[in-house]
Amino acid sequence: MAVTLKLDKSIFVPKYYPLLFNYSHRWEIYMGSAGSAKSYFITQKIIARCWNEPIKVLVCRRTATTIRNTCFSLFKDILTKWRLYPQYVKIRETDFNIKFPNGSEIIFSGLDEETKLLSLNNIGCIFIEEAFEVPKPIVE
Ligand SMILES: Nc1ncnc2c1ncn2[C@@H]1O[C@H](COP(=O)(O)OP(=O)(O)OP(=O)(O)O)[C@@H](O)[C@H]1O
Ligand SMILES: [Mg+2]
Repeated sequence: MAVTLKLDKSIFVPKYYPLLFNYSHRWEIYMGSAGSAKSYFITQKIIARCWNEPIKVLVCRRTATTIRNTCFSLFKDILTKWRLYPQYVKIRETDFNIKFPNGSEIIFSGLDEETKLLSLNNIGCIFIEEAFEVPKPIVE
């Protein structure tokens, strides 16, 4: 589908804007005070990436129970604001799944749902929300 996503610079927090299409770092760690737009910007960045290239993204945080009201609802809000949902993007509420017309997919999982995590494949990007909550090292 040849729909171009036009994103005005003004919808992004200025300090993070330069990172929007910068994928040169293997790891990006966002630190800052509460309410400083970390989650919002990361969500914007992932949506823009999913729209522009086919990629599978895993969004996770320590517990599955917190995902619906935080990460998942933020993705839904921004997709709605950008008018991608419901017209172009499909959202499945039952198992937290978002599908883009180019095949990109966003899946959500708690890090406490080990069986679900084990069956995932082909993930191109992982967003760990509130990574400080995660008790053990992610990379051994
Ligand atoms: N670009 C933006 N446009 C509109 N609203 C925004 C934008 N960036 C952030 N906000 C709003 O600012 C508030 C705080 O943003 P966000 O939740 O991303 O902060 P945070 O840094 O992740 O905070 P915390 O450390 O508490 O998780 C939210 O209500 C969000 O809707
Ligand atoms: Mg946050």
